[in-house]
Amino acid sequence: MDYIIGITRIFVVNVLVVGSGGREHALSWKLSQSPKIETVFTAPGNGGTKNNVDLSVDDIDGLADFAQKNDCFTVVGPEAPLAAGIVDSFNQKNLKIFGPSKNAAQLESSKIWAKNFMKRNDIPTARFEIFEDAKKAQEYLDSLDYNVVVKADGLAAGKGVIVCNSKEEALAAIQTILVKKTFGDAGNRIIIEERIDGIEASYIALSDGDVAIPMASSQDHKRIFDDDKGPNTGGMGAYSPTPIVDEILAKKIQEKIINKTIQSMKNEGILFKGFLYAGIMIRDGEPYVLEYNVRMGDPECQPITMRMDFDLYDYFVASIEGNLSSLPKPLWKNQSAVCIVLASEGYPESYPKNEEISGFDQIPADSYVFHAGTKKQENKILSNGGRVLGVTALGDTLHSAIDNAYSASEKISWPHKFCRKDIGKKGLSYL
Ligand code: AMP
Ligand code: GLY
Repeated sequence: MDYIIGITRIFVVNVLVVGSGGREHALSWKLSQSPKIETVFTAPGNGGTKNNVDLSVDDIDGLADFAQKNDCFTVVGPEAPLAAGIVDSFNQKNLKIFGPSKNAAQLESSKIWAKNFMKRNDIPTARFEIFEDAKKAQEYLDSLDYNVVVKADGLAAGKGVIVCNSKEEALAAIQTILVKKTFGDAGNRIIIEERIDGIEASYIALSDGDVAIPMASSQDHKRIFDDDKGPNTGGMGAYSPTPIVDEILAKKIQEKIINKTIQSMKNEGILFKGFLYAGIMIRDGEPYVLEYNVRMGDPECQPITMRMDFDLYDYFVASIEGNLSSLPKPLWKNQSAVCIVLASEGYPESYPKNEEISGFDQIPADSYVFHAGTKKQENKILSNGGRVLGVTALGDTLHSAIDNAYSASEKISWPHKFCRKDIGKKGLSYL
């Protein structure tokens, strides 16, 4: 369909966002503001997304069928369908889809592939060795005089990384991944790499296979408890921009890591189109890649999209078509945004579900509640996952955005609501 405003003809499309988390709600929310988009569908979506389609993210044929019948431009949120080749499959059917191909998604789907790629292309990362034999891995540990991180090769829902404080912990990690196979086949091979102690930031760029434009900087909070205590989670809160990534550091990351990754992929015959997320550790002012993700971060996406002063759909189209450099530099609101993840007590282990959530009607105008693990039943919103909501607020400073996000978060309640109380605090110490 198309309509005419003045002399400009705007082509209107539908969009299908694949996924069900806070990231996908944020993408749907942002895309639905585009005048070029008629309806944003989300598959399978959650209690906060509109126009939900009852298809799971791994039903690639079903999703393609839906996209075809409803004239959709598809946007993929999570890594699993990308690793399974959803983009290749849609492309074969001439359906427009934003995200990296299966080959390009190896940057996330195989940590070993990614480490070898970085090594041969001189992209800064922790030194490492690869093992499939537990005995050889143990012998290797004996030869080291520094702490290590033990990582399962494949996708393990963010849990296959064990940061070790001693040799004993490293030995136990080898047992867990390689011998007990706690993460199944994802742990057939492991990486043992040097632990880099520094400060972490998320650096996310959007690429068309040739150039990559940076998104606003952000920082996640991966551990479950305040002051980065307790086990790793999918992310308990994020804010943007982060003062940790100043202009000098941003330039270093963009040149030494992002541009180099995109160009090296291209040289190896793989065009990387989509969001490229580098998890960065900064030590003595130098950035190292801890991991690549081939998608937006969750929860980083929530504060980042809230600061976008541009039509994200235009950039998605340009990414697919390989002409990002023809678009203007994206504009960002000159404000901070903070996302507090409200989780169910017990996450990342077991937690109760189906608890009724209230308070949505009391959220102030400068805040937005992105849903993640929720579902709608009749007119009620029920908890349906570990990370339940991402309450996201703008503020003129990081300080005021933190205050706004926490005061909005307080309006929301359910019996087993839990959140960290220190989201953004690390950023404040850099101001
Ligand atoms: P990953 O999934 O590879 O990003 O790892 C999860 C988390 O483990 C990261 O966010 C870091 O906090 C930590 N981590 C991973 N690799 C290293 C490393 N080489 N040194 C220190 N911490 C690490
Ligand atoms: N927030 C971390 C991730 O999206 O992987």
